[in-house]
Amino acid sequence: MADASDDLSDLPAVFRDDVESVLIDAGQIERRLGELAAEIDRDYAGRELLLIGVLKGAVFAMADLARRITVPTAMDFMAVSSYGSSTSSSGVVRILKDLDTEIEGRHVLIVEDIVDSGLTLDYLLKNLRSRHPASIEIAALLTKPSRREVDLDARYVGFEVPDVFVVGYGLDYAERYRGLPSIVTLKPEVYGG
Ligand code: PRP
Repeated sequence: MADASDDLSDLPAVFRDDVESVLIDAGQIERRLGELAAEIDRDYAGRELLLIGVLKGAVFAMADLARRITVPTAMDFMAVSSYGSSTSSSGVVRILKDLDTEIEGRHVLIVEDIVDSGLTLDYLLKNLRSRHPASIEIAALLTKPSRREVDLDARYVGFEVPDVFVVGYGLDYAERYRGLPSIVTLKPEVYGG
């Protein structure tokens, strides 16, 4: 994993005062997603893939991954609510928006921004497996292994991050900072930490 950087000069000015350090910059994200897309292309050669993005955090990873994958893909989205506080999830998951399409017999790749406790994806995997896809795998830009509460096997992982609160590239705090191009930590006073 990359070392945190104090150089905030590439960040949009509107966010800069709130950011403590850059954990993963935009270039690193771009390169890593390119590597994952190449892996996915190899693994799914000759097959069609259904990418399922989990709103809202996954929108950037979904868009950037989908643009790099060259096997034929379709896209769909789910929205779930984890009933957690704003910085941690409780494990109780409710579907706010279900898929528009049937997945029976299809090769499904769930795209997430982060696997934290793993409870959201554990629920989603069980739910989607009951619909009998031909295969189902997970691609997550970030994972926090130290926070895992369930055994979860994500096949494609961008970066492991330590147990620190991160935002940017889809990840929010109180719906803010999703548009940051990099994964950053916030100054503790911003989120009352
Ligand atoms: C985040 C993230 C995952 C989930 C991971 O979503 O996008 O879906 O939490 O946490 P877990 O592994 O502990 O279950 P969040 O509920 O913050 O919604 P958002 O994507 O709309 O920001």
